[in-house]
Amino acid sequence: MSATEKPLGPHCFTFGDGLDLQVHCRRLPAEVARVTQTLQLDVEELFANLLDWDSGPLAAEAAAGGAGEQQQSPAQQQQQQQQQQQQQPDSKKLCGNVAANQPDLIGLDVWPAAIALCEYLARRPQLVAGAYVCELGAGMGLPGLLCAKLGASQVLLTDYEPVVVDHLRRNAEQNGVAPRCSFLALDWFDRAPLAPAQRHAYHLLLLADVIYAAAVVQPLVATLRALLTPDSGVALVAHRIRRPLIFDRVDKIARLQEQDEIFEEFKGACQAAGLHLRFLSDGPAALAGEEPLLLAIGPSPHHLQRFPALAQQAAGAGGAGEGSGGVQGGSTAAAAAAAAALATGAVEDS
Ligand SMILES: C[S@@+](CC[C@H](N)C(=O)[O-])C[C@H]1O[C@@H](n2cnc3c(N)ncnc32)[C@H](O)[C@@H]1O
Repeated sequence: MSATEKPLGPHCFTFGDGLDLQVHCRRLPAEVARVTQTLQLDVEELFANLLDWDSGPLAAEAAAGGAGEQQQSPAQQQQQQQQQQQQQPDSKKLCGNVAANQPDLIGLDVWPAAIALCEYLARRPQLVAGAYVCELGAGMGLPGLLCAKLGASQVLLTDYEPVVVDHLRRNAEQNGVAPRCSFLALDWFDRAPLAPAQRHAYHLLLLADVIYAAAVVQPLVATLRALLTPDSGVALVAHRIRRPLIFDRVDKIARLQEQDEIFEEFKGACQAAGLHLRFLSDGPAALAGEEPLLLAIGPSPHHLQRFPALAQQAAGAGGAGEGSGGVQGGSTAAAAAAAAALATGAVEDS
């Protein structure tokens, strides 16, 4: 097997004090973590990964509509392609860095942010018990599945890639939590599939490693607002800071981008939409992109306080145990500046 082949197989993940999830996914987390640390890869491996990404038999199967589906005639395939193009012309190209109408299989991997979010939740089941939970861009759905195990009333697992949603369903069944879960192919660019009862219905939204394309920022914030309960809802975001290597044409050198601009834009868009931010884990390792950071977002600063910040941050703040975190208000000067900057792309709530 070459270094870049990605077998899909069962893996067991253990969180907290022994909460197990059996997940059918494409890679082990350690391998994924290595691939995301772009700068630590040798160049040859980086290019091998880029060229080989999603070009294997799984992609071909998914492009053909999944293993279980019947063969279609060329005319049917063409008609289906035209329908897909009309419904979803750009989204996969914008988000998945794949050609239109090709499956985006990035969600078959389990990303380090999902693991970090699970670790946080597994040790704080009181945040989840009885809640209506929804995961966006769930991929293999570890945080959502864990919430179902931790006593959430209902968990809606969503992703825009139908092949990934099929795997989500299978993973829920595998873990015995399917009766508490529902599944939806939801693209942030098109919220029409949301039923009226699903709008403004979720106490807890989960987002793990979904902020990596500038185009998604506004639709993602709009989706977040469309799903959160208006007062008490909280979105938990696990994010790995990424500062891409860019070529400075003036100085003719390659250097790291100053900051994770897409993430900065996301934070600004949340604040411009009147949402408050509370960092739960943003220590030096998280800021350096070595581990995921955790962020709670919601309309009410009061409800954000229910989500404890991790001790790492408390150390910097001179505290002990879990830290107090810091809430950045939606009405601060920074938010006003962000609002002005984003004025042309106002967040609509559909
Ligand atoms: C990097 S993966 C993270 C998967 C999973 N949350 C994890 O952390 O393991 C990004 C996920 O976002 C999904 N995604 C990307 N763009 C999307 C969009 N426009 N609407 C919904 N899901 C999207 C992808 O299909 C993929 O599952």
